[in-house]
Formats: sequence, C-alpha cells, structure tokens
Amino acid sequence: MWFGIVAAATACTTAMAANTPTDFADVAPVIEKHCTGCHQKGEIGPMAFTSYSEIRPWAKAIRAAVLSRSMPPWHADPKGSTHFANSRALSQTEVALLTRWVDEGAPQGKRAAAIRVTTQSTGWKLGAKPDLIVSVPPHPIPAGGIMSYVFVVRGTNFKEDKWIRGAEWRIDQRQVVHHMNAFIRPPGSSYLSGAPRDVAYVATSSERSARRPDERETDRRELLAGYEPGYRPAFWENGRAKLLRKGSDIVFEIHYTPNGKETTDASELGLYFASEPPRERVLTITPADANMAIPPGDPNYVTRMSATMKSPVELISLQPHMHLRGKAFQVRAVFPDGRTEPLLDVPKYDFNWQTTYYLKSPLRLPEGARLEYVGVFDNSANNKSNPDPTQTVRWGDQSYEEMSIGFTEIAFPVTADAEVAVLSGTTRPAGISASPGTR
Ligand code: HEC
Repeated sequence: MWFGIVAAATACTTAMAANTPTDFADVAPVIEKHCTGCHQKGEIGPMAFTSYSEIRPWAKAIRAAVLSRSMPPWHADPKGSTHFANSRALSQTEVALLTRWVDEGAPQGKRAAAIRVTTQSTGWKLGAKPDLIVSVPPHPIPAGGIMSYVFVVRGTNFKEDKWIRGAEWRIDQRQVVHHMNAFIRPPGSSYLSGAPRDVAYVATSSERSARRPDERETDRRELLAGYEPGYRPAFWENGRAKLLRKGSDIVFEIHYTPNGKETTDASELGLYFASEPPRERVLTITPADANMAIPPGDPNYVTRMSATMKSPVELISLQPHMHLRGKAFQVRAVFPDGRTEPLLDVPKYDFNWQTTYYLKSPLRLPEGARLEYVGVFDNSANNKSNPDPTQTVRWGDQSYEEMSIGFTEIAFPVTADAEVAVLSGTTRPAGISASPGTR
C-alpha cells in the first residue's frame, strides 16, 4: 500500500512537469551559458542569441544542431576521453530541455527572462591591461587568392628573464584570420635567424626548417600561444608559467585566408607576467609525424607519434592538429608498468575547430611514461572537405597539404632541464623534412 502511494505520487509529479509548457525563461540560462559566448555581436557565431526575438527565428535550427551535437562545437567523445575543464558539450538534460521548448513552438511565456551578455568582444578577457602587448604590424589582406604564411619577428628587450602566466589574443579581423601562433625565440636561436625585424616576411620552407645540428628544440623556439576560432586565452595557474628568457624575440606565424573583401588586419597578443618566479615551468611540446605520404583515395591513412617522459611531469592540455583530410585523432598514456589510459578521442575531426583540450585535473606522468598519438586521414572522395582525392599528400603549411601534430602542454619543476631531464624521443621524429610545430 505504502509503495503504491509513493509510485502514484511520483507518476503524478512527472506528468505535471511534462504538461507544464517550457517557456523562454526555462531555456534562457542554457543558451546564456552555452551559446551566447560565441553567438553575440563581434564574436564568431554568425548570428546573435542575446534576446528572445533574436533566438526565436533559429528555433528549428537550434533543435537540429543540439540533437546532432554539431552545436556547441565540441569534438571529444566522452567515452574515450578524460574530463576536460573547457568542455562545451551540453548534458542530456539540457538537450532535452531545448528540444522540448522548440517542439512546443518555442514560446516566450509570461515570465521575464533576459540573457546577460558577459563576454565583451573588445577589451582583455583575462582582466586588466596586459603587462606587455606585442602587436602584429597592420597587414593588407586581398579579397581573394591563397596567401602564404606570414612571419613577423618582434623583440622584447627585457633586462631579465620573465615568466608568463597568461597570454591572450586580440584578433582584429576574425573573418580572415585562420590562425596565429606566437613562438618564443630565445637569444642565439637559429630559427628564422636571417629574417628582418618588425615587418611581415614570407619565409621559404628551407629558411623555416634550417637549424644547427646540435641545437635543442627549446633553445630554438617554443610555442607560446596559438589563436584559432573558439580558442580560449591561456592562463597557467598554480605557480606555473612559461619562460621568456631575456633577449628573446616573439615570432608570429600567421595564416590569413581571404574571404572576398579587402581588409587590413592589426591583431595583438597580450602577455601577463608572474610577479614571482613560479614553481613549475610550462612547456608545449610538438610531437609530429612529418614523413607522411597519403596515397590518392586512401580513406584510412594512419600517422603515429610518441613522447617519452624522462622525469615526472604533469599533463595540462592536448591539441590535435591536422588539415582538411584529418579524420580522427586519439591520444593515450602508457605507464611504465604497462597500464594504459585513454586521454583523448576525437572520432570526427573537424579542421574548422582547432580545439585545445584542457584536462580537468592535470595528469601525473612518471618518469618513463609515454604519450602515444594516432592521427588518421581520409584522402578519399567521400571526405567532403577533401580538396583533391587524386593527389598524394605530404607535409606542408597549406590546407591542401597535411600535418599531424599533437600539441601537448606539460609542467615540470623549474629546476629540471626542459629537454635533457624531461623529454626524450620523438618531438622530432628521425628524418623529419619540415619544421614541426608550425601549422
Ligand atoms: C565556440 C563558439 C560557438 C558556440 C559555443 C556555439 N556556437 Fe553555434 N555556431 C558557431 C559558429 C562559428 C557557427 C557557424 C559555422 C558553423 O556552423 O560551424 C555556428 C552556427 C550555428 C548554427 C547554424 C548552423 C547549424 O549548425 O545549424 C546554429 C543553429 C547554432 N550555431 C546554434 C548554437 C547553439 C544552440 C549553441 C548553444 C547550445 C551554440 N550554437 C553554441 C559558434 C558557436
């Protein structure tokens, strides 16, 4: 009897909930939290979702996009992945709520509901003004054509080493900036050593890959921060920072993609310095498989990379990088006792979204642990993004060429030597013919 009453009461509550119309006031918080960051004026979403009247015409498209999980853009499969701090994925409940609202005719309802627009497209998101703003000199972008990668070398002129705890881009013309990378070039580096300063420069691929035979990667250059659509500013917490040795330069590597209208881009990189020396140094390593030759029509070409830790480190983030034929990407950790742990599974790689996956809690990798990366390519005609399935595809900058890189951010005590103590092996696989770490 007692059970019967409880069951009846529960059924009744559920039925009542299902009969209650879902109003805009119910879905507004979900849209505010998961959509408005990109869907507002000046951001990358093509339409603004900041009020009922802006959202209502998109109701059907919103339903389709959240059900197919094409929006919000997030490509890691939770089943084969660790937990990521910056996951954009909606929960089942959120998908169900949005779907139900649309199925009920996307009503406004009587309750007041407003969407707060928290991010501003102008101004620095990491807070106050950066300690150093490094600008890209204004660069003319033609209406059409393919532009070569542009490089700009900027000096920093500090009298002492600096520790960078945050880096943020202010991108001027988002519609033509495919991506930008900023590298730290320590004094004495061979990287683009002949390049002029403070002007845009197109380097040949041999200039770009030139290096002294015994030069260590971290003495040559280090990725400081990358921008790509949907990126988030980098901020290293817990006494961690990236090292900017005194006398270093910042080298920008920029890929502009003309989109029909002439314009001029003048973007900036803002750097925030730590006030005290950090406990740990953050370093981005770039395991890459540059020896690829993807046969014409091959639907499943596999590249592999690995990096072995020579002393304990913590893994902070992962970013797969491939181009238009990129199909899937996976990363796993192999521990010295043979145990393996899947870290990242991107079953449907999408070149348009160069996502950095930040681990919710950094993963400790002991000495001898190995990270293994697999990048899979589809060079068949079934791949809708494929520019030409009849070509053999090799490593190169342009989107019609390919890359396979697992950008990996690690942290280790500042007392450890970045390359001798921490890493061994394949940040540069043998026989590499182009410079890894560029994209
Ligand atoms: C990280 C940025 C970002 C976030 C977050 C985001 N969008 Fe988008 N959205 C875009 C961009 C860019 C496009 C246009 C290009 C594309 O379709 O990928 C787009 C396109 C769309 C479209 C039209 C194309 C399509 O796929 O149907 C819809 C509808 C949409 N978004 C809905 C949403 C909803 C609903 C949310 C939140 C639940 C959301 N978006 C979150 C960036 C974002």
